[in-house]
Amino acid sequence: MNPTPDPTRRLTPVVRLAPAKINLTLAVIGRRPDGFHDLHSVFAPLELADRLSVAIDQTGRQDRLHIDGEVVPGPLADNLVLRGIAAGRAAVRGDWPGGPGPTPALAARLEKRLPVGAGLGGGSSDGAAALLGALEAWGADLDDEARRRAAASVGSDVSFFLTGGVALVEGRGERVTPLTGLRGSPGVLLVTPPVHISTPEVYAAFIATRADGDGNVRSSSMHLAQELGKNLSAADLVARAGVLASANDLLPAAMLVAPGLLGVRRALMRTLGRPVGLSGSGPTLWTLYPSQSEAEAAAAVVRAAVEGGSIPDLGGPPAIAATTISNVQPGRTP
Ligand code: C5P
Repeated sequence: MNPTPDPTRRLTPVVRLAPAKINLTLAVIGRRPDGFHDLHSVFAPLELADRLSVAIDQTGRQDRLHIDGEVVPGPLADNLVLRGIAAGRAAVRGDWPGGPGPTPALAARLEKRLPVGAGLGGGSSDGAAALLGALEAWGADLDDEARRRAAASVGSDVSFFLTGGVALVEGRGERVTPLTGLRGSPGVLLVTPPVHISTPEVYAAFIATRADGDGNVRSSSMHLAQELGKNLSAADLVARAGVLASANDLLPAAMLVAPGLLGVRRALMRTLGRPVGLSGSGPTLWTLYPSQSEAEAAAAVVRAAVEGGSIPDLGGPPAIAATTISNVQPGRTP
């Protein structure tokens, strides 16, 4: 019989990708007593991802985080990587192969490739990757329910990133239902203007301007969830882009908070001749294509338009990326 491996002696770091997401729809159903909002939203994970590695720090007393790549503002201690690890430790409660006793400190390294504060869920995805990476590094087992509770304690969007795959996200974000009907990997063009948009401010603007979400947005979201629960090709998804691009209840509120975004969206629609949607509370704008190569061609067109001055300048060039919806379903290997 093999001796039980001692996880504190694990030498190789655990490496996880932390994918971005876009919201194909986002219906705000209403305000909750806890101040958050109940949502009905179809989330799609993207190939574009941060990369996180996590290793046991034999001598360390505190978890550490080093970030390469994009600059992440704010104190390191607030980073969702450290909060994800802390939530994992609290949930394990000393019950791990090296226990009983606290799980050892971890050293995490994040290669930040996703734009920060963009509406792409990068921070939440990092938090989920950190939670799962920490459990793996410690060799700790947590049942699904405990994992879900720990993820939800880190942030509203973190639960979505636990499973992977296109999903319907409801409640505050903690109710995640996989939608396994997408066939193919649609291309996605992402344009992120350099404006800071505070999510709480967008929700506050939403509340100030309307009592309820738009019924049309809600029915578009429900309809898409139904279709993606059955069978929908990449081409059929792209054909619905016009409806989806206006199926975000936070879009008018985000345009109030960052008025310059309206002009960028209009200019992109003119330049690309396609519908342009907003991801989450923004500022990232998305356009769908049947394939990655078509999204890449569109990215080149937008880069030229930015250089030519036909896209409004909000204080610098936007981040532009071509990627695909990552169509790996939970439980299915790529
Ligand atoms: O949970 P998280 O920290 O990601 O949420 C950021 C902010 O977004 C919250 O403080 C809240 O203002 C708003 N929010 C909300 N309803 C949700 C998710 C987020 O009101 N379902």
